[in-house]
Amino acid sequence: MEKPNASPDRVGEAPGQPDPRATVGPDPAEPPRNEPPEPPELRLSRRELLKAGALGAAGLAAAGGTLAFRPQRPSADTSHPGPANHHLRMEPVGDIQPGGFDPSAFLTHFDAGRVSRLPNGQVLREYSLVAVDTEIEVAPGVFFPAWTYNGQVPGPTIRCTEGDRVRVHFVNAGSHPHTIHFHGIHAADMDGTFEIVEPGQSYMYEFDAEPFGLHLYHCHTPPLKKHIHKGLYGVFLVDPREGRPPARELVMVMNAFDTDFDGENEVYAVNTVGFHYQKHPIRLRKNELTRVYLVNVTEFDPINSFHLHGNFFRCYRTGTRLDHYEWTDTVMLCQGERAILEFTYRFPGPFMFHAHQSEFAELGWVGIFDVQEVPNV
Ligand code: CU
Ligand code: CU
Repeated sequence: MEKPNASPDRVGEAPGQPDPRATVGPDPAEPPRNEPPEPPELRLSRRELLKAGALGAAGLAAAGGTLAFRPQRPSADTSHPGPANHHLRMEPVGDIQPGGFDPSAFLTHFDAGRVSRLPNGQVLREYSLVAVDTEIEVAPGVFFPAWTYNGQVPGPTIRCTEGDRVRVHFVNAGSHPHTIHFHGIHAADMDGTFEIVEPGQSYMYEFDAEPFGLHLYHCHTPPLKKHIHKGLYGVFLVDPREGRPPARELVMVMNAFDTDFDGENEVYAVNTVGFHYQKHPIRLRKNELTRVYLVNVTEFDPINSFHLHGNFFRCYRTGTRLDHYEWTDTVMLCQGERAILEFTYRFPGPFMFHAHQSEFAELGWVGIFDVQEVPNV
């Protein structure tokens, strides 16, 4: 017997969407409803209070946008058991502009390169990465002057199999010197540390992919903090030769942005856009294995974390072993650390995932898995 809230109509409603009436205040023409009173004005944290003005002046004027954080009123409709019923949520009004970087598409986009074979039979995968200065939108109406690989932050997710030859054609079309430093085992001059690539120049990185696991790449030009925080990073995924079990696979890069350049982050996210997966929940299927490739590149804060609601996950740190994992619902990662998370939902409905540092969650690092009932065939 299917519960009414598990019908296809119900699950198509995007449970993370706020009640629009909550953001504009009560409509005087509307008959009174039996619902809880309006929440009191939320007190802004020091960081929010200090930065709201700076964001408004520096980041928003050119874009003509506003970053208005409004409390979302808990819904009185108990047939919608969404997070709005028990969480007072903060999120910016509106959405990012269409046509730019799409965090929803990024989740499942893997670049396997141009594939051929070397004379010895080894698989060769070739990739092209171009450093380019690009303005990116990190929250509705909030723009950030980024340095990017291929015009996006994070850069493309580079995927290969252990033992493949990886060849990366790097062109620096940006305005500053850059490199690409891959995590992995390789020769010193392939490490992207000392061979600085000046604007207009290029470099070719080539190495065998090892070890298998979840790695990353990033610029390693000093000042390193600036070159990483500006957006020059991406995921480098090396699959084991025998593969991993079939799963719904999602790439999540925990990142953050110092939009007023004071050495502190104002916007936190997975995959760049704060609150994106709260506004656009990620649909999962009940009983389907889900695998999250989780990488932390957050600058300025020493750690970040991932907490899953209503479930536990297997946590494979660095993804370099198939037989060793933790069984937990929260993982903490230092900058540059990563972990592969595997889980299966037994219950349908909306489930939050977010940084367990509450401040990060309130500044954008929060999302929703919308687990859908799959009819028995
Ligand atoms: Cu750089
Ligand atoms: Cu690194």
